[in-house]
Amino acid sequence: MIDKNSIIYIAGHKGMVGSAIWRMLISQGYTNLVGTSSKELDLRKQKSVRDYIRKIKPDVIIDAAAKVGGILANNNFPYAFLMENLQIQNNLIDAAHRLGVDKFIFLGSSCIYPKLAPQPLKEEYLLTGPLEPTNEWYALAKITGVKACEALRREFEKDFVSLMPTNLYGTHDNFDLNSSHVLPAMIRKFHEAKLNNHAVVVLWGSGTPMREFLFVDDMAAAVVFALENELPDPLYNVGTGIDLTIKELALTIQRIVGHEGEIIWDDSKPDGTPRKLMDISKMHDLGWQHQVSLEEGIARTYVWFLENIGEFKEVKM
Ligand SMILES: NC(=O)c1ccc[n+]([C@@H]2O[C@H](COP(=O)([O-])OP(=O)(O)OC[C@H]3O[C@@H](n4cnc5c(N)ncnc54)[C@H](OP(=O)(O)O)[C@@H]3O)[C@@H](O)[C@H]2O)c1
Repeated sequence: MIDKNSIIYIAGHKGMVGSAIWRMLISQGYTNLVGTSSKELDLRKQKSVRDYIRKIKPDVIIDAAAKVGGILANNNFPYAFLMENLQIQNNLIDAAHRLGVDKFIFLGSSCIYPKLAPQPLKEEYLLTGPLEPTNEWYALAKITGVKACEALRREFEKDFVSLMPTNLYGTHDNFDLNSSHVLPAMIRKFHEAKLNNHAVVVLWGSGTPMREFLFVDDMAAAVVFALENELPDPLYNVGTGIDLTIKELALTIQRIVGHEGEIIWDDSKPDGTPRKLMDISKMHDLGWQHQVSLEEGIARTYVWFLENIGEFKEVKM
């Protein structure tokens, strides 16, 4: 049983998702949180990971560590996205299993589902068709993580569960244009255009794909929900259940940032999957729902962006 004094190791606790989980657990009175940066502990190294888990003896591991990036980064570095993610999650999952950690929460991504799966995406569509080629390396690693946790549930009756978030955004997001996801990239582009009085903003793709976005604090709440409840299935989608076109998203961000001007769509750049909407009825049936609307989440993210603008790290891939 988990209580407020349980030792909870959040792998990736400095990242966007990990730091949101950390803040939420602290705000709810959890007292024994543990985390290390990648400099202190490189999760790609099996022995170091085992030694660390042996030392801290966590009751729970939340795996929010991964090599994460947008279409460009995934396309350019397929081997790193496949291998580093496999190494990180394999080391954590296997160490948790061997060293008797009671509970493990694995975070994946909606890109695990086939490119042309029916919408909204149900958990049961996993492995029913080819993946979206632009991120298949990352997706293959995540699918392996889901299956490793499922295998441990089946063979050893472990409480290992996988949560598949839709696109996430929010405070502590990555705003580096070489590696960022679409929403923070747009915030930065519109902000810089406003600052420099540029009337035109060029955005990638046709603008027609449909996407769903979840504010990171809502994701953290879903993780806390999974922490405090033993979920009956191995895999759950986490999202809002609401999608919009990339064009609609751009117009919303443009308005919130306060840029006035034209948007040009560069359709020589890839669009990715035409539509990606999660079926979140399984989480809803258990009692979890998102709380933050897209407008409110973007406004909160933009405030954080303005407050931290001097401190963004440029991400080296
Ligand atoms: N962002 C999204 O839209 C999104 C959507 C769906 C799912 N997810 C999932 O949510 C999880 C977290 O994503 P995020 O957006 O929070 O990513 P993030 O901000 O890039 O954070 C990733 C974290 O992983 C750590 N990490 C990476 N490589 C490591 C290594 N070799 N050793 C130790 N730590 C390492 C980083 O540590 P350092 O900072 O110390 O280097 C960082 O704290 C991932 O599993 C991702 O698949 C994210």
